[in-house]
Amino acid sequence: MEFKTLGVTGVKIPVLGLGTWGIGGLMSSDSKNDGIGVQAIRLGLDLGMRFVDTAEMYGRGHSEEVVAVATKDQRESIFLATKVSAEHLAYDDVLRSCEASLKRLRTQYIDLYQVHWPNSRIPLSETMKSMERLVNEGKVRHIGVSNFSVRQVTEAQKALSKTRIVSNQVEYSLTERSIERDLLPFAEREGITIIAYSPLARGQISEQTRGDRWNILDQVAEATRKTRSQVALNWLLLKPTVVAIPKASNLRHVKENAGAVGWSLTEGQQDRLNEAFK
Ligand SMILES: NC(=O)c1ccc[n+]([C@@H]2O[C@H](COP(=O)([O-])OP(=O)(O)OC[C@H]3O[C@@H](n4cnc5c(N)ncnc54)[C@H](OP(=O)(O)O)[C@@H]3O)[C@@H](O)[C@H]2O)c1
Repeated sequence: MEFKTLGVTGVKIPVLGLGTWGIGGLMSSDSKNDGIGVQAIRLGLDLGMRFVDTAEMYGRGHSEEVVAVATKDQRESIFLATKVSAEHLAYDDVLRSCEASLKRLRTQYIDLYQVHWPNSRIPLSETMKSMERLVNEGKVRHIGVSNFSVRQVTEAQKALSKTRIVSNQVEYSLTERSIERDLLPFAEREGITIIAYSPLARGQISEQTRGDRWNILDQVAEATRKTRSQVALNWLLLKPTVVAIPKASNLRHVKENAGAVGWSLTEGQQDRLNEAFK
């Protein structure tokens, strides 16, 4: 596995993590595929993707419970990230949500606690004070945000007295590149890690067949002897501040995604993809 520095900390995290939206349910708890979810996460961990991303919202908390089972006995060597939902951003609600996540995750601390979505009804300063308290209490190691604009990250940072926002988790893939306009350059300037979600465009990268851009992706895949998904992930990870969290329940997919690192697209191949998917 390859590693990148998390924000301005000295902490190194794997460039590929494991997304878990859908493991343990989507909007409600669903335990019928827990076994395969645990297997998929454990395989990902064994292959070096020792960074797991979940949220209190996923499967109404059941995703965190599945993650707890999968990470049992190896907690110390895993970078564990979860999120507080937008409706829980009032001061006391953040504290309550964190306690509940710690319990479901069966851990004493969360490596990265992220504000899942901004909520205009609750002042960011209030949320951030609560997040900072969790850091001071040792329950949270680092504070991150998700789906935040440049303005919102700046405002959130201003509300923190001695803690830095280390990451912004946002959608980023070959087919969704809007963060390249301002969020990505801002993150590079400020030393904020971009955690790319839906990096495989929710599976679309491997499924879509027609059109010139897909032909070019196939040509690059053929030239590198990699799959489309591996090329798409490698393309993302060549950006210095970007790490990615593909979700895969299928064990074949987990293995394939792990093969997205350890090699690099050439500049020429990157240019072709940039042009095709602009
Ligand atoms: N912060 C946010 O607001 C937010 C929003 C969305 C997602 N996320 C996070 O980001 C993670 C990833 O995003 P996502 O789940 O939306 O989309 P994604 O990772 O782009 O795509 C997941 C889909 O791609 C399939 N897949 C995975 N690897 C594949 C491969 N090598 N070849 C072909 N298909 C493959 C998966 O199938 P199988 O499962 O069958 O393997 C699944 O259907 C989430 O799980 C979640 O942790 C965060």
